[in-house]
Formats: sequence, C-alpha cells, structure tokens
Amino acid sequence: MKTKVSWLVLAASLAVVAACSSQKKEEAPEQAQPTLHEVMKDEIDLHADELWEISNPALGENAHLDPKLMDDERWNQIEQRATALKAAALDLAKLDPIVVVKPGVKIADEGVPYGDTGAEVQANVDKDPQKLRDFANALAVHAGDIASAAQRRDTERAGLLIGQLDGVCEDCHLEYWYPSQKKLLQEYGIER
Ligand code: HEC
Repeated sequence: MKTKVSWLVLAASLAVVAACSSQKKEEAPEQAQPTLHEVMKDEIDLHADELWEISNPALGENAHLDPKLMDDERWNQIEQRATALKAAALDLAKLDPIVVVKPGVKIADEGVPYGDTGAEVQANVDKDPQKLRDFANALAVHAGDIASAAQRRDTERAGLLIGQLDGVCEDCHLEYWYPSQKKLLQEYGIER
C-alpha cells in the first residue's frame, strides 16, 4: 500500500516536471543561449588572442614558425587553444536565432566612421543568417586544421594557417560587422 502511494506521488511530480520543461521551451528559447557579441568576446576573441600570444614569440624569418623556437609545451598550448577556438566557432554556428546584442549593450567601434551599431549588425545578420553560420563553420575547420598541424608538429603548415587566421575572421567581419568597409576596399581595388 505504501509503495503504491509513493508511485502515485512520483508520477504526479514527473507530470509537473514535464509540464514545466515543455512550458519553458515555448516561452523563451533565446534567453538560454548567449548573444553573438558574448560568444565573440568571451570565447572567439579570447582563444584567438591566446593562440597569437603563444605563437607570436616563435615567429622567425618571414613570419614563419621557427622550429628552433618550438618545444612540446608551446605545441601543446597551440593545439589546446586552437581546439578551444574550434569549439567557440561551433558555438557561434549553433546560435539560432542569432541575437547580436542584449538591449543597451554597445559593441566595439560603434559610432566611429564605418563602424556599424548593434542594430545595424543585427540587420546585416538577419539578411543572411545562414551565410554567417557558414563563415563560423569555416573558422571551426581552420582552427581544427591548426590543432592537427600542431599535433603533427608541422611547423610549415601550422605557421601558414596561423598567419591566415586573421583573414578568416575578416571575411565574416567585412560581411556582417562593417560591410561599408568592404565597399571602401572594393573602391580602392583591394578586394578580399
Ligand atoms: C561568423 C562571423 C564571424 C567570425 C568568423 C568572426 N567574427 Fe568577430 N565579430 C562578428 C560580428 C558580426 C561582430 C560585430 C558584433 C560585435 O561587436 O559583437 C564581431 C565583432 C568582433 C569583435 C568586437 C567585439 C566587441 O567588443 O564588440 C572582436 C574583437 C572580434 N569580432 C574578434 C574576432 C576574431 C579574433 C575572429 C577570428 C578568430 C573573429 N572575430 C571571427 C562576426 C564574426
């Protein structure tokens, strides 16, 4: 008798939990996920900066990684940071919907010439959110390739990929953060 009652209680509380969680899903899906601005600052820029900080002192002639300046510790750190950057880029690609900033939050370079505001960036994103996810996935692949090159201790390839990383960031920035700079670059014949 005693067990029967507690099963009933359990069933009832499970029903409540189920009702709560389904209600939550309907109410505010975008509350649970970070904004693009948060992923950019707290994950992507952070890990990319750490990666550059570790690799820059090992740059030799012609901005190549100098094998003489590389040791296991530096390789492992590069691999770690590149793997973290890859995960961050995948987090960015997963955002749905993509909310650029919380109300009242300012983004970098707002108000300077050719710097878009958060609302303008949101409009750029809403025009083609899938292409932004494609750029984020391209960054994930690039960062993953850096991690593999580091694992293989491939100075040539790792150096090349780290040198190209900034361009992978810029591809997306020119499209979504400051597209007016893209026009300017095109006017000067410097197309990316
Ligand atoms: C898929 C698109 C995309 C990629 C790839 C990307 N970014 Fe961004 N980033 C944005 C957008 C959109 C903004 C403008 C919104 C903002 O400032 O938060 C931005 C803004 C920033 C900012 C300014 C943040 C602030 O305080 O407002 C920094 C710094 C930054 N990105 C660094 C990077 C670095 C470093 C990389 C490459 C390792 C990178 N981003 C790759 C889309 C991207």
